[in-house]
Amino acid sequence: MTNYIQEIEKLKKEKNAIILAHYYQIPEIQDIADYVGDSLGLAQAAAETKADLIVFAGVHFMAETAKILNPNKKVLLPDLEAGCSLAASCPPEDFSKFRAKYPDHIVLSYINCTAGIKELSDVIVTSGNAVQIVESFPKEQKIIFAPDKNLGGYINQITGRNMLLWDGTCEVHDQLTTEALILLKKSNPDAEVVAHPECDGPILALADMIGSTSAMLKYTQKSTSKKFIVASETGILHQMKLNSPEKEFLVVPKDETCSCNDCPYMKLNTMEKLYLAMKNEVPRIELSDEVIERAKRPIIKMLDISKQLNLI
Ligand code: 13P
Ligand code: SF4
Repeated sequence: MTNYIQEIEKLKKEKNAIILAHYYQIPEIQDIADYVGDSLGLAQAAAETKADLIVFAGVHFMAETAKILNPNKKVLLPDLEAGCSLAASCPPEDFSKFRAKYPDHIVLSYINCTAGIKELSDVIVTSGNAVQIVESFPKEQKIIFAPDKNLGGYINQITGRNMLLWDGTCEVHDQLTTEALILLKKSNPDAEVVAHPECDGPILALADMIGSTSAMLKYTQKSTSKKFIVASETGILHQMKLNSPEKEFLVVPKDETCSCNDCPYMKLNTMEKLYLAMKNEVPRIELSDEVIERAKRPIIKMLDISKQLNLI
């Protein structure tokens, strides 16, 4: 039987490869990755890597972002089917027509979108910098925000803006119910609630803290609370438990069948697929030079603004 840990470590050295993994990957993949982070951290790591081969343990839009930032390198995604409901909710042809109706608006897009949407955007944001990037524009600036209406609604609420929102959601965060959260809160009155802004408003209204996966992770480390209810994806619990082994973490369940909430796309990646991808150098992310040139501009803008604001 193949020892995936040993073989992957060997391939990393042989091919000068870097494994970038999102917090929603299975624990084994997070443990073997060179960098584990949220979408913002991963974009920055992809922008700065000196590795020859980038292996993206995440979903398609993340690997695409890494390719846009590294057009001359091979970028691998262990399973090309690892998509995202937010990215799928916003086809470039439809969005282009929508945008054309509001020529006086700029477009801020959540990084969870296809390269085609990035091409049509002025600045990309992540959940780790969206509020600050929106606030870096004058109050009177008209803005279209795509594709996550929950994140966009949350930003509108806390910044007092009135951004036009594309009607997309993350199927993983949007399916969480206040009933399930209230039940967990009742049986764990000593727990603090941390929530990802991809959840809808009523869930966010019940949270003690709202933030990106990295922000939630840092919060649970710093807080004096001993127990947390996490309104997000199950994968983040791995780093929370590693960083605060003495604390207890409960994820808001997606339904009564389990005490979990897994992203079906993130969880397509396995150790076997990671190993095979590195061995055979497929599946690769391929984009035309024209797409890369147009999609790169708003990503670089995001990284520049984030640096100016000391967010990275
Ligand atoms: P962040 O990594 O920005 O927290 O976003 C979570 C997510 O759903 C990524 O697909
Ligand atoms: Fe997309 Fe949601 Fe999965 Fe993240 S968790 S990849 S936003 S479907």
